[in-house]
Amino acid sequence: MTEMPDINDVLGTLADHFGDRISTSESDCREHAADVSHHEPCPPQAVCWPLTTDEVVMAVDACRRHRVPLIPFGTGTAVEGGVVAVTGGLCVDTSRMDRIISVHPRDMDATVQAGVTREQLNRHLSDSNTSVFFPVDPGADASLGGMAATSASGSNAVRYGTMRDRVLSVEAVMADGSVVRTAGRARKTVTGYDLTALLVGSEGTLGVITEVTLRLAPVPEAISSAVCGFDTIEHAVEAVIDCLVAGIPLARMELLDEVQIEAVNRYSGLGNAVQPTVFFEFHGSAASVVEQSSAVEMITAGHGGSDFRWATDEAERNRLWQARHDGYYATLGLREGSTGYVTDVCVPVTALAEAIARTRRELEGCSVPSPLFGHVGDGNFHVVFPIRPGDANELAEVQKISDRIAEHALELGGTTSGEHGIGLGKRHLLEREHGPGVAVMRAIKDALDPLRIMNPGKVL
Ligand code: LAC
Ligand code: ZN
Repeated sequence: MTEMPDINDVLGTLADHFGDRISTSESDCREHAADVSHHEPCPPQAVCWPLTTDEVVMAVDACRRHRVPLIPFGTGTAVEGGVVAVTGGLCVDTSRMDRIISVHPRDMDATVQAGVTREQLNRHLSDSNTSVFFPVDPGADASLGGMAATSASGSNAVRYGTMRDRVLSVEAVMADGSVVRTAGRARKTVTGYDLTALLVGSEGTLGVITEVTLRLAPVPEAISSAVCGFDTIEHAVEAVIDCLVAGIPLARMELLDEVQIEAVNRYSGLGNAVQPTVFFEFHGSAASVVEQSSAVEMITAGHGGSDFRWATDEAERNRLWQARHDGYYATLGLREGSTGYVTDVCVPVTALAEAIARTRRELEGCSVPSPLFGHVGDGNFHVVFPIRPGDANELAEVQKISDRIAEHALELGGTTSGEHGIGLGKRHLLEREHGPGVAVMRAIKDALDPLRIMNPGKVL
């Protein structure tokens, strides 16, 4: 058991100002001990809920002065243990920093405090009758600060990009208590080092993101969806590649293997044929979505796609995508009381069929159900293992398979995480992926956070 730091001086410094917005209660600490994955919870010693950037500065200053770890917390909906307080410390929960600061519909940007969630922003944009929306959709209603910190993506990155593409700038409190704004609202900038790119995806290890300026997208005039089954995953992937190279601007293309289809059918009461299946979504003008989906129907037919079904009705479409978003929970539903161990590799799309074939060979004989699904248009896929909490043998078994899947992805020119990040779970793979690049990352970390108070034990 790691010895916990003495947090009393931090509490003493912050108590008067924060009042009931700082807590050491067991239940508050427990609620901030874990994300939604298998990673073992470790509670922080205290939680505070700042309202402003100045209050985040106060928290960082107190932690720095007293050498206490600080863990930024969004909604706790990630899956690599990024918020687990492995060495105790102060959790800074940004959920009450929920102000939408400005929206410029015609520049198509918005600036929000870190705790604003993506659905909150989208509701605001639609309630105020703008014709823009924020497209990055990881499934969970995550906070935009957390999504920036983890460089979230999800099902429509194939069309709209990831947080890396959508964050114009951030405001962050760095480990020394300074406040930086990494850029303005211009679409392009080439001035100095790219601090936005450095902070996006830094997983709370360099600073606390307090505000985010985001690129919005026009609300499409029409949306339609389709579902298509295939005999094999290879045929599904070939069809997806043909759709991409044909330049069809697909908004989403999600692959679910037969195990996952069965899980989703059961969890969400759907009746999809049990075979590898691709869910498509088309955004555009009314004429364009018809054109796009006819083109996709022709391409899929050329790869033996069967049962191409439209979901034009909004309720049906929502049900379909809700089922996809609930895919992780559908997998957990395969085994009562299980917790999720998620793999997350990404390869060039032309290597996807090979990566999946190798992955499935690794899964042969696995004692845990192993559905495979993913953001196939990006070459990004997951196997979710619903494991028994506390079963060390199962954990070791899937950990080994997960490492083999990652190894195959690297051999095929890919990465060991396309979406979920490093957190606690992928640290042992960073060196294998980046070699000498890791020393550069360490040098940056040491320069910016010499006392190592920012989310220690994560990423590096
Ligand atoms: C998903 C999560 C697991 O794709 O990334 O549903
Ligand atoms: Zn995913």
